[in-house]
Amino acid sequence: MPSNSLNAFSHETLLARFVVVFCACTALLMAGCHQKATDSTVTAAAKSATKATALGGLLEQPVFQCGTSVDSLTADSAPGSVTVFESGPVRPLALSHNGTLAFVTNAPSNCLEIYEISGDRFVLRSSVSVGLEPVAVAQRNEHEVWVVNHLSDSVSVVRLDGTPRVWRTLLVGDEPRDIVFAGTAKERAFVTAAHRGQNLPGFSDQTLVTPGLGRADVWVFDASTLERSESLAPLTIVNLFSDTPRALATSADGRLVYAAAFMSGNQTTTVDWRSALERKAAPHFNASGVPAPSTGVIVKFNGQGWTDSTGKDYSDKVKFNLPDHDVFELDATADKPGVLRSFNHVGTTLFNLATHPSNGQLYVSNLEAKNDILFEGPGSAGSTVRGRIAESRITAIDLKSGKVEPVHLNPHIDFSVPQGKAVPATEKTKSLSSPTSLVVSPDGQHLYVAALGSAKVAQISVETLSRKQFTPSVRQHIAVPDGPAGLAISPDGSRLYVYSRIAHRLSIIDTRSRVTLHSQDLFSPESKSVREGRRILYDAVISSSNGTVSCASCHVFGDTDHLAWDLGDPDSKLARNPNAYVRTITQRMATFHPIKGPMTTQTLRGMAHHGPMHWRGDRTGSNPDLINGKEESLESAAFKEFNPAFVGLLGKERPLTRRDMQAFTEFALSLTPPPNPVRALDNNLSEQQRKGQDLYFNFDGMTGAGSCNTCHVIDPEKRKFGTSGLMSFDGDRINEHFKVPQLRNMYEKVGRFEGGEQIRGFGFLHDGSDGTLDHFFKDSVFLFPAPQDVTRAQVISFVMVADADLAPVVGQQVTAYPGVATATQNRLALLKQQASLNTPRGACDLAVQGTHLKTAYSGLYSDGTWKLRDGRDMTDAQLLALATAEQPATYTCLPPGSGSRQALGR
Ligand code: HEC
Ligand code: HEC
Repeated sequence: MPSNSLNAFSHETLLARFVVVFCACTALLMAGCHQKATDSTVTAAAKSATKATALGGLLEQPVFQCGTSVDSLTADSAPGSVTVFESGPVRPLALSHNGTLAFVTNAPSNCLEIYEISGDRFVLRSSVSVGLEPVAVAQRNEHEVWVVNHLSDSVSVVRLDGTPRVWRTLLVGDEPRDIVFAGTAKERAFVTAAHRGQNLPGFSDQTLVTPGLGRADVWVFDASTLERSESLAPLTIVNLFSDTPRALATSADGRLVYAAAFMSGNQTTTVDWRSALERKAAPHFNASGVPAPSTGVIVKFNGQGWTDSTGKDYSDKVKFNLPDHDVFELDATADKPGVLRSFNHVGTTLFNLATHPSNGQLYVSNLEAKNDILFEGPGSAGSTVRGRIAESRITAIDLKSGKVEPVHLNPHIDFSVPQGKAVPATEKTKSLSSPTSLVVSPDGQHLYVAALGSAKVAQISVETLSRKQFTPSVRQHIAVPDGPAGLAISPDGSRLYVYSRIAHRLSIIDTRSRVTLHSQDLFSPESKSVREGRRILYDAVISSSNGTVSCASCHVFGDTDHLAWDLGDPDSKLARNPNAYVRTITQRMATFHPIKGPMTTQTLRGMAHHGPMHWRGDRTGSNPDLINGKEESLESAAFKEFNPAFVGLLGKERPLTRRDMQAFTEFALSLTPPPNPVRALDNNLSEQQRKGQDLYFNFDGMTGAGSCNTCHVIDPEKRKFGTSGLMSFDGDRINEHFKVPQLRNMYEKVGRFEGGEQIRGFGFLHDGSDGTLDHFFKDSVFLFPAPQDVTRAQVISFVMVADADLAPVVGQQVTAYPGVATATQNRLALLKQQASLNTPRGACDLAVQGTHLKTAYSGLYSDGTWKLRDGRDMTDAQLLALATAEQPATYTCLPPGSGSRQALGR
């Protein structure tokens, strides 16, 4: 989002706006300050005084830095000031140990909000600005909570004594997701992060081409040593042999930690079309008899070998194993914690974990993908995945025997009835879609499951799960606001607290009567259309007739599931291909065949400006509508061509209304990929990457069609990141034509090497059939200059750091005070340098947040000085002088165009 919100207003409106906002804020600040402490907080404060710090008791001087009751600007009033990343909430809600406070991550506001739970109401007590996209929060002790910032690759250590504030910022690996405290004294923090990123020691683009590595890490910090030393280094980083991780849980005694892979796969892979030739099962023609192109085939490991959906054996074609390790048990008390054992085949996409306090079970909310079933549509050829797609499940792991028992939450649905027909309402209302957050009641009787896609929390008897006697029933359901994704339960089990992401609301439920006692809206700066459109991605009730699936069943949090699907439709006709081709390509394909073969699920992030959609570009966008009197973009028209998928794939009775599809389109086209985690934070390329870049752009002999850039156009100013949306073909090795794909997420496709155990079944190309770029670039269509091994490696290094929408520094943070370690000072200097750039585009808007003399301040870096929210201007030195080791300043690189809204409130 290039435009700067400041440009959108004239000077006068800005001034007027500033006055209004400033007055509103002051009024709110006063209201906050004068809030009366109730008895429970007074006791808590008194208790905390025993472990006193210079700053006083618990929440003694609340500040209101961000989010609810402070912010008022949204993307509708400040266009271009909000970037939609759609990081999925992981642990967005946590209670204080005594149950009197609720800590909530307000992700779109980059804010930790602290509520007092008083007489069944949430009363806002304080709010603290943290990093970008906070997705998880955990309490360490009465004085401290830790917040995981998914996009900032950081953890904010928030102190609650005296003036609530960020006390330290810890740097972790890429895209951290969850946090728990464990160990003998529960002083050790465990944080899940992808095994990559600028903050991972020893990481380089070479890590991505090294086989045999786990791509998931658990960072372990010893909180008590942080207090005693200057070092913010982890105690250890535990590597897990899986793709990126998400959920964490601890045993009741805190001695063990469980960590789960997120998109862990299900022992499926693609055999490429050459290897499948001659063996591939029918249908080889569509209903009107036109022969289908030769495509690959999806195979699944059945315990003995690799077979396709008809049972044909392809074991001789698969050159690796997929052990499918899903959940890992870590020893939390060891000097250096490590993995004790792992549990396999728990599910395909694993959301959250919860341990039972006494029965020895670990529960895992998950989806089990049915990508071994062929085709969408009515299924006249004998197979369709329509309405089925991914089963929503709770898997119970018996920690003693190691037994893994999946429980399907929707066994009442008869998936063999032709979908697209209305499922009786009485059956549909029993469905639960996309189970995420889990909590066990303190008495151990019930498991509460947040069904993100059903606007429900299910209260399931634990006994029925262990005996596999689960029976769906609406009597187990609690209706909650849209998109429940965070749960917490009161120490006595009488109240359930729910955070709903889509509604962006908190609620309090009486667990006995299942009645909502109170709900509280959180502030979001997102535009109205984004907030409306989000619902359609996840909501299985409006998306499918059986209430079990949505677009998010595969596009998990607007991204991918890292699987391939064969979603052709043999009942369909050929479609016309009107797309434009790369200019040097003379061979064109006039039609798209409806049997398309396996295709990997594409991310929905970053579709704007990237042309026709789907690997083949068969959603062409060639019939744009007039929207508010203006012709919509090609991408907007192309996205609307997905409306039939609600019927043909999800099994909804009829397509969405125009209004809903418009909101969904605006939401989908606003989704933005994260910054590249491999490229250096100063945006400079290594020698190897630079040589690769030179070849990529300038070596015209690279293919018969020209340089890489002839097809994969990278031009950040034109918002092109690997494609200009044109079609191409890749020689006779592939016999369909494809739209040239974008290259921003190549680093995520790593991990399917040849030989031995692998962490993923799908790699590069449309069908995921190529495990490494080295192998792909050895194809005869590529004419790398000599010495080829060297030049190939150079180009691969560059592809791993290919330009993305946002500079690598976006999201990065540092917490500083006078006398802080040199490494921290250097990092601050880097953030300032990046914020000062403006060619070819601003790298980031640098904001500062802190507290001084018990009040909060925030400011924005501009031309070497600081503008503060209260109107003051300060030099660097003046600003740093406000900070101390106890009340430091935290600097955050925000997406360009969002700094004024976030730091100055205007
Ligand atoms: C069964 C898994 C699955 C479901 C459910 C699903 N998709 Fe997809 N999606 C895919 C796959 C696989 C591809 C690539 C298919 C291809 O290229 O032919 C894809 C590609 C896309 C793309 C193209 C992205 C790009 O960059 O070109 C869009 C847009 C999209 N899907 C939207 C949707 C919408 C909207 C829904 C809900 C109606 C949906 N998908 C449901 C698997 C799924
Ligand atoms: C003639 C146009 C063209 C040229 C030139 C070209 N590519 Fe491609 N590239 C494509 C197409 C089309 C695909 C999709 C093929 C498929 O999915 O089967 C592709 C696929 C890829 C992929 C895999 C993307 C993914 O998501 O898995 C990468 C990486 C890639 N190209 C990099 C390069 C590099 C680097 C060069 C130069 C050495 C290059 N390409 C040259 C058209 C081209």
